[in-house]
Amino acid sequence: MNGTNDAGRPLGVAVLGMGTVGTEVVRVLRDHADDLRSRVGAPLVLRGVAVRDLSKDRGLPAELLTTDAEALLARDDVDLVVEVMGGIDPARKLIGDALAAGKSVVTANKALLADYTGELAAAAESSRADLYFEAAVAGAIPVVRPLIQSLSGDRVNKVVGIVNGTTNFILSAMDETGAAYDDVLAEATDLGYAEADPTADVEGYDAAAKAAILASLAFHTRVTAADVYREGISKITAEDLETASAVGCTVKLLAICERVPGEPSAAEGGKDRVSVRVYPALIPRKHPLASVNGAFNAVVVEADNAGRLMFYGQGAGGAPTASAVLGDLVMAARNKFYGGRAPGESVYAELPIAPIGDTPTRYHVNLQVEDRPGVLAAVADTFAQHGVSISTVRQQGHGDGARLVVVTHHAVESSLADTVAVLAEMDSVTAVTSVLRLEGTEES
Ligand code: NAP
Ligand code: HSE
Repeated sequence: MNGTNDAGRPLGVAVLGMGTVGTEVVRVLRDHADDLRSRVGAPLVLRGVAVRDLSKDRGLPAELLTTDAEALLARDDVDLVVEVMGGIDPARKLIGDALAAGKSVVTANKALLADYTGELAAAAESSRADLYFEAAVAGAIPVVRPLIQSLSGDRVNKVVGIVNGTTNFILSAMDETGAAYDDVLAEATDLGYAEADPTADVEGYDAAAKAAILASLAFHTRVTAADVYREGISKITAEDLETASAVGCTVKLLAICERVPGEPSAAEGGKDRVSVRVYPALIPRKHPLASVNGAFNAVVVEADNAGRLMFYGQGAGGAPTASAVLGDLVMAARNKFYGGRAPGESVYAELPIAPIGDTPTRYHVNLQVEDRPGVLAAVADTFAQHGVSISTVRQQGHGDGARLVVVTHHAVESSLADTVAVLAEMDSVTAVTSVLRLEGTEES
């Protein structure tokens, strides 16, 4: 099935999964068959769709549906595979076998790619098939291809994104209405944004998988989900949003992929390192990501020569995700027809991963304190003892309601963690109410 297609011979497509995304992929394949044929040069013909449950009404002829994905992929008249079933197994084996057999694969499966891109890319390489995955990060937004192709002559230094629509919907609603996390999560579930089990979204696993994919592409280094430091949004309170607002900020769940310049004296001999992290952070309201609201996603890429680029749009949903899948499918089909190939995995740089403890960030620390002389000095001294420099400190409230809001200059995570541990034990500090990172600010 490799190499140039006979002129005009139909290219057979197998689709694995017909849920939210698969249903829209199949609809576009059928409704826009003529356009797709013209764009590819040969007809794309749906050979079959693998599902778990044949009893569901899917508006397709029964002969196109099967529960035997393996047999569908093994058919000689299947040239291209769209995997939108999700999960690791059986998707991993099905895709691996299809690629090894020379069938090009388009997948939206970020969880699989975050851990197994190396294995799948090797299978594609062995048979010179294509592996495309634009839909795996930020749904409809073209960001994978720009990183792989458009920026392949540049040097990317940072990728920061809002890559999870569910959590962005929740944080935007908390910011706009002052509502509590649990109330907004319930609304997000009612509206169909959050899954019945929202763990993957709200605890940041979904964003971490996407961050691993983005970092791998940006830094030509294999980064897996285990390399990503992750915190979710389930501990964010209405008060955090209120405090953020008081300092001209909002709170967003950010996926941050950053090149950390190496120091010649370091163990790695001065090699740059890669920091990849997902956590809720304060960002100034004037930052471009602050105005990304609701279930929308956006990704900002900073490169040496291109400067700052921003990609914005719908990061989830059947039709938006299908748009990215179909774009990849057309590319893969053209390659079959004309004999080209997708770029393979590029991991030549092999940059080491920087541990979160070494990662410098600014912090916003909210303390409930006793309102008496010397408390501010003692708190400031604790920061100083741990080498954490304070940028601003404000007292809010008086008496029993006294709070100190401390904003630091850049400090490494480990120093801040040590500072907070000591603050929590101080008699004059009633509670460390919140510790949030501050991103997207210029240091003065
Ligand atoms: P979904 O609605 O849960 O649909 C999954 C489909 O796969 C269902 O049709 C299911 O069959 C089928 N399936 C699952 N396991 C199967 C198995 N072992 N054999 C055969 N069929 C199987 O999922 P989705 O939301 O469309 O997501 C699909 C993929 O796209 C995931 O990797 C997801 O991360 C990714 N993605 C989704 C979105 C989004 O907005 N939903 C956005 C970007 C990326 P039944 O219908 O019979 O149950
Ligand atoms: N669950 C994801 C989100 C969509 O909320 O953005 C799939 O990537």
